[in-house]
Amino acid sequence: LTQVRHNVKRGNYATLEGKDIAFFESIVGKNHLVQDDLQGYNVDFMRSVRGSSQLVLRPSSTQEVSAILKYCNERKLAVCPQGGNTGLVGGSVPVCDEIVLSLARLDKILHIDEITGIAACEAGCILENLDLKARELGLVVPLDLGAKSSCHIGGNVSTNAGGLRVLRYGNLHGSVLGVEAVLANGDVLDLMSDFKKDNTGYHLKHLFIGSEGTLGVVTKVSMLCAPQSQAQHVAFLGLSSFDDVLKTFRDSRQFLGEILSSCELIDANSLDASVNHFKLNSPIEGYPFYMLIETSGSNAEHDMEKFNRFLENGMEKGQIIDGTITGEVGKMQEIWKLRELVPVALIEDGFCFKYDISLPLREFYHIVEVMQERVGNLATRVCGYGHLGDSNLHLNICCQEFTQEIYKCIEPFVYEYTSQVKGSISAEHGIGFLKKNYLKYSKSPAAISKMRELKQLLDPNSILNPYKVLN
Ligand code: FAD
Ligand code: MLT
Ligand code: ZN
Repeated sequence: LTQVRHNVKRGNYATLEGKDIAFFESIVGKNHLVQDDLQGYNVDFMRSVRGSSQLVLRPSSTQEVSAILKYCNERKLAVCPQGGNTGLVGGSVPVCDEIVLSLARLDKILHIDEITGIAACEAGCILENLDLKARELGLVVPLDLGAKSSCHIGGNVSTNAGGLRVLRYGNLHGSVLGVEAVLANGDVLDLMSDFKKDNTGYHLKHLFIGSEGTLGVVTKVSMLCAPQSQAQHVAFLGLSSFDDVLKTFRDSRQFLGEILSSCELIDANSLDASVNHFKLNSPIEGYPFYMLIETSGSNAEHDMEKFNRFLENGMEKGQIIDGTITGEVGKMQEIWKLRELVPVALIEDGFCFKYDISLPLREFYHIVEVMQERVGNLATRVCGYGHLGDSNLHLNICCQEFTQEIYKCIEPFVYEYTSQVKGSISAEHGIGFLKKNYLKYSKSPAAISKMRELKQLLDPNSILNPYKVLN
């Protein structure tokens, strides 16, 4: 493991006693109170942070979550809500000895309405499971990301996860219709709704979308699924400059209009990681930049015509050098793998500094080149990929192991740079533990102070996910 030691002063919380264990056992039962072999709960996906929790609770209902939180609040025991533990900012694992509250057993799909597209499920439902069920009814969950086989809907909502099709479906603030959340004192806030339109006062559900387990524990979610597209195509293109990438993005919006469903960038170093690590075949090779462009429409013939015109135009102008296009399911999946497996491949390099930033498109790739220059041969790989269509770059700097020297080369420079060009220091992964000291680069003191007031109102004892986001 390659975690960095973070010096954090433990908050003024109670420590677990025998009577606490007895109480929790009376709520969740012996089998769902875990005290041994907690590594999987204490270490994050990136293997960059490690907590030292001694207790994991696995409730199976909202009522159990409520009873646990009410007790923890009265006893001042700190709690770390955990979904699929795929988060990338160290928010999903304890920092000290917080109790891990795993939502994994709240995994029921409650209903999916094939007419309206409204789906409701418990928070621990795995994204891919909900999507597969929705597809049986001709629908899709309006969210897709590389971690779909293990992340939870509750985790997705709590991080306001973005992913591969924000360009098409927007973010979860738009598609989530309602949530049920348990507050720190155990009160259950039922904000479930089956309607897109409901202007009855303040929209409290938004407080739980993206608040990373610091304001409440999400226990149920309802969201609006989209109709499954009748026709889908994916192109994988090779380009020789970032300027051509930008022009190709502009043209993709012009030529593909309403059928454009994804527009991703992969640079050569990123592609190299997934191809080599997973022994994948890339249909084209040898370019500094690649774009994955997907369309989702209702008529394959019409869509293909549009796609061909777009490609011909790009090739005639010399913006696109080479490419492949397919509508075959298996081949489309092969192409998507090249992109989706990049983050998984990168952690195998050793240690990975991961940045998830929104940048103005004209400045989008410059930071990758600047970082390459700055870190030089301290890094094994500097690469950039991400959701170009949403102005969201994933800048990753890999090395064999964490050293202060490379760390100081990168931070706070990368955040200062992002702030100077008026970008966001976290586009979609959140703030969690790893970025809390940098929130100020994207939020004003006044905004941070209001966030603190909200936190104080909803969780006065600060038992929910301490040391994260604001602390
Ligand atoms: P966790 O990692 O368990 O938790 C994340 C945060 O939410 C923590 O702060 C936790 O305390 C809190 N939390 C979890 N469940 C609840 C709950 N029920 N109530 C309250 N708080 C809760 N993210 C993107 O945005 N876009 C991507 O494209 C993307 N791709 C990824 C690809 C890979 C390979 C991996 C490993 C991760 C990727 N991620 C991406 C990051 C991550 O998958 C998302 O943030 C995801 O939404 C986290 O869900 P989870 O269930 O794993 O939550
Ligand atoms: C992605 O888009 O692949 C994810 O956000 C993960 C990452 O940033 O590496
Ligand atoms: Zn992403």
